Amino acid sequence: MFIINFKNYPGAFGKEAVDLAKEIRDASNEISNLEVFLAVPLVDIYRVHSQVDIPVFSQHVDPFLPGQTTGFSIPLAVRKAGAVGTLVNHSENPMDLDMIREAVRLCDEVELTSVVCADSPAVIDQIRDFKPDYIAFEPPELIGGDVSVVEADEFVVASAVSAAGSIPLLVGAGIGSAADVSRGLELGAEGFLVASAIVKAEDPAKAFLELIQGY
Ligand code: G3P
Repeated sequence: MFIINFKNYPGAFGKEAVDLAKEIRDASNEISNLEVFLAVPLVDIYRVHSQVDIPVFSQHVDPFLPGQTTGFSIPLAVRKAGAVGTLVNHSENPMDLDMIREAVRLCDEVELTSVVCADSPAVIDQIRDFKPDYIAFEPPELIGGDVSVVEADEFVVASAVSAAGSIPLLVGAGIGSAADVSRGLELGAEGFLVASAIVKAEDPAKAFLELIQGY
C-alpha cells in the first residue's frame, strides 16, 4: 500500500486536486503491482472519486453515527462520498484513544479501511488492540523534512514494525527517495505514507515514479 497524502498543500484541493490525482493515476497505470491511494482533503473526496479512477482516502473521520453532529465528518458519510479508507489520528489532527477506538469500530462497520497513525512504538502498543486495518508510524518532527524516518533511526522503525505485531505497518515522515522506500521495506514496512516529496514536487508524477523505484 502506498498512500499519497495531499494534506491542504497549495495545488492539492479544489479543481487542482483532480488534476493532481489524474497525474498520479496516469503514472500509477505504468506500474502493475502496487496499490496507490490518494488521501485528499475531505471536501474533495466526492469530486476526485467521481472524476478520477484511483481509490481515494479521507484524511480524517470523526467517530460519530448519523444524527446531530453538525460539522463533523462521520465514517458513513465519508464512505458514501466515495472514499475506500481513511487516516485516523494523523499528528496534524490528533485524537484521544477513546476516539481512535470508536473511529476504527465505525470504519469497520461501514467497510472503510482504517489507517491509524502513531508517533511512537509506545503509542502503537496502545492502539494495536483496536485492530485497525493498518498502522502508520510517523514521527511528527520528521514530517515534511529532508531527513526520512528510516534515515533518522532504523532501530525505531524496526521497533514500530515489531510493536504493530500482526497489523501491517506503513511508514511515513520525510520519505523522499527510492532508497528510503527500499530500506523501509527491508525493515519490515508494508507500505508508505508520503506527502511533501510528491505533492510539493515540481513534477509530482515524476517524483512518484522515482520513489517507487525502491520497490
Ligand atoms: O501523512 C503523511 C505525512 O505526514 C508525511 O509527510 O511530507 O513527510 O511525506 P511528508
